[in-house]
Amino acid sequence: MSGPAQGQILTPKPGPAPRINGPAVYGVRPGHPFLYRIPCTGQRPIRFDARRLPSGLTLDRDTGIITGTAPKKRREYDVTLRAANPHGVAERKFKIVVGDTLALTPPMGWNHWYTHYDRISDQLFRDAADAMIASGMADFGYQYVNMDDCWMMKPGSNDPTLSGPARDASGAILPNKRFPDLKGLTEYIHGKGLKAGLYTSPGPLTCARYEGSYQHEEIDARKFAEWGFDFLKHDWCSYGKIAANQSLEERQKPYIKMGAILKSLDRDMVFNLCQYGMGDVWKWGGEVGGHAWRTTGDLGLAKDTRLPGFFHIGLANAKHWEYAGPGRWNDPDYILIGYIGNARRQGEPPKQAALTPDEQYSYMSMWSLMAAPLFYSGDMSRLDEFTLNVLCNAEVIGVNQDPLGKQARIVRQSEEELVLAKPMRDGSLAVGLFNLGESEREMSATWRELGVTGRRRSRDVWRQKDLGVVGSQVSSKIARHGVSFVRLIR
Ligand code: GLA
Repeated sequence: MSGPAQGQILTPKPGPAPRINGPAVYGVRPGHPFLYRIPCTGQRPIRFDARRLPSGLTLDRDTGIITGTAPKKRREYDVTLRAANPHGVAERKFKIVVGDTLALTPPMGWNHWYTHYDRISDQLFRDAADAMIASGMADFGYQYVNMDDCWMMKPGSNDPTLSGPARDASGAILPNKRFPDLKGLTEYIHGKGLKAGLYTSPGPLTCARYEGSYQHEEIDARKFAEWGFDFLKHDWCSYGKIAANQSLEERQKPYIKMGAILKSLDRDMVFNLCQYGMGDVWKWGGEVGGHAWRTTGDLGLAKDTRLPGFFHIGLANAKHWEYAGPGRWNDPDYILIGYIGNARRQGEPPKQAALTPDEQYSYMSMWSLMAAPLFYSGDMSRLDEFTLNVLCNAEVIGVNQDPLGKQARIVRQSEEELVLAKPMRDGSLAVGLFNLGESEREMSATWRELGVTGRRRSRDVWRQKDLGVVGSQVSSKIARHGVSFVRLIR
């Protein structure tokens, strides 16, 4: 294996007995199609069971995939999931909330952009779905296989696969010739219990200058639903030329429009706003129907200074902690680790990310504490052991997916130190001590700063190990650009 050495792997290997992962709450709109693959580690075959599943839903006991139609009544259903194999049995509560809010916990999945750019095809997404299962990522809750820009026709292109009419006679958008059957593609993804995402722009052209949805919003959204997509990223791009001015009203307009259309569909579609944080989107993204909104420019274009770009994006996103909650998440962009492309030189083949192991643990810890959508955007065909250890730690993801849905508060921040604290539903507090400095340092956070009282059991989230009982502060020696990620349990 190239890259970081074995000794730097912190995540314990999942055992052979079943362990059910994934969120404890899951939202669906009344009467809409339902699809959920129970994320579960342990040696297959595993036999699944789900008690008190609402009528209209059925579980495939061999695959753990629940399908069907959600009940028409707005109500909460307390389901118990169960998984068994010869090594043991696992049980977990799973609340299905039939109501108006989707994405009750941050969405998780993969997005093609930062590895493949315009080099995409039907096959790539089938392979990505296969890899999400085969790599075990889906067993930790990764679920969406998301297509970004460049699936449409490209007006003016000389490439025969991209040129031709962008729409049919009725105005319906046409995929380019690399996507002969989008409905077949989503069916393939759904067949694995995973979900499919798509991308468009409110402008006439997307950021990569492909056909956008301007003046075709309704017909496009209906088509996306008919194709079977479950997630839509709506990227501002050339809408800048359409907006009359830079007022808040003009900035909100295209998102209000698409948000209302998506709500009227008979299919759940998670709505991801992408307009780089303009007009303080965190203050109104939820009101216009958004479930997550990018708070900054592209992470792949962020400049490394003394600190790698993800720290800058993360620090900017962290400030908006008060605005996040179930169904409304601040989105600091994708996780760029493992084999990844270069957004500035998109033609180059993917290379291993130039981040140290400590920086990668900091990256994932920050995204987890910030309740950020967790979308990997590296090469799914080259997932090495170290990368998977960063992406797939059940306790790290558990902090991200906590049903209370709080984003971590900034407890303290300086040139060299950052302390984040995220309250959890069970009364515990997840705390990240980040060393932004250039050499190892001792860091601590007191109960006073953290707003904690009494004795707490401190648990190392990455190593999944109790560190002991502490009474007044947490402290740790932390490597350059590294993190100590603990959970203080009552
Ligand atoms: C913008 C977005 C990116 C990506 C590209 C696609 O830059 O911010 O996330 O979707 O467009 O062209």
